[in-house]
Amino acid sequence: MTSDLSAPTRTRDDVAGRLLGGSVRRSYAPVVDIDWDAPLVPGKWFLPAEMCTLYGTDLWARLTEEQRIELSRQELVNLLSMGVWFENLLNRLLLRELLSADPTGRDAHYSLTEMGDECRHMVMFGRVIDRIGARPYRLRGWQLAVVKYLLPLLIRGEAVWVFALVGEEIFDAQQRRIHSHPDLQPIVARLMQIHTTEEARHIGYARDGARRGVATRSRAQRFVAGNLHAAAAYGFRYLFANPRMYARVGLDAHVAYRAAVTNPYHIAAKQDGFRGLGQFLTSVGLMGPIARRAWRRSGFWS
Ligand SMILES: [Fe+2]
Ligand SMILES: [Fe+2]
Repeated sequence: MTSDLSAPTRTRDDVAGRLLGGSVRRSYAPVVDIDWDAPLVPGKWFLPAEMCTLYGTDLWARLTEEQRIELSRQELVNLLSMGVWFENLLNRLLLRELLSADPTGRDAHYSLTEMGDECRHMVMFGRVIDRIGARPYRLRGWQLAVVKYLLPLLIRGEAVWVFALVGEEIFDAQQRRIHSHPDLQPIVARLMQIHTTEEARHIGYARDGARRGVATRSRAQRFVAGNLHAAAAYGFRYLFANPRMYARVGLDAHVAYRAAVTNPYHIAAKQDGFRGLGQFLTSVGLMGPIARRAWRRSGFWS
């Protein structure tokens, strides 16, 4: 196995050029590539049952089939809502980094192409939430202030790539496992298939950026980039089991939240989603001790 720390022989522009070629060959316009008029299929799920955070718990056993499917709808909407604010913030960070980049370089062109992908994804997520008859989970109060003002201040340089990976890889790994699940509503399966295709390029670009940055940045910068993502571990632990979802299906939000974060099935799903990212961050020296402890405590890493 080759080490992720081995000196890259390709330049950043070479990598960007290859990704630009992939973007030309395979990109989607969800406005026309999703059948928005197709009816929802009665009895189909919005996430597979085993991906629901309460699956296997006593609470789950007491829910009717209808309530379980409604919970899967709320859980999907929660993930898509998180996707919208994550991609909004990622685009802001990428655009800021571009201010000091060479506008003739392929690196800059790929970065702009990725932002275009994310803009279409945000439209797709919003439209699917609307199409499946749900309301999004909006950021509010202190959460809005953190995403709008604090995170852009903290996430700089190397940390931009780590942020991109933390936001993209966990969801991507989960979507890959479930997008062809026979129980899924067709519109959800199509959304996931489109998203995983385009995210594969984004992850390749962010991994290359993270790998490359490690060789050039100071120890202090690496320490910050390698530990700052500890905050994401705690944030995701909470957000994956967003209490507002449970309230919408008529459960006691606090009781359901506790059941979810201690649910071995949910913890196993989180660990499946995080495994590849955890291994990558470790291999490039971006899994600092604070972050490692945080991902373990939050149930993402065993
Ligand atoms: Fe995306
Ligand atoms: Fe992305």
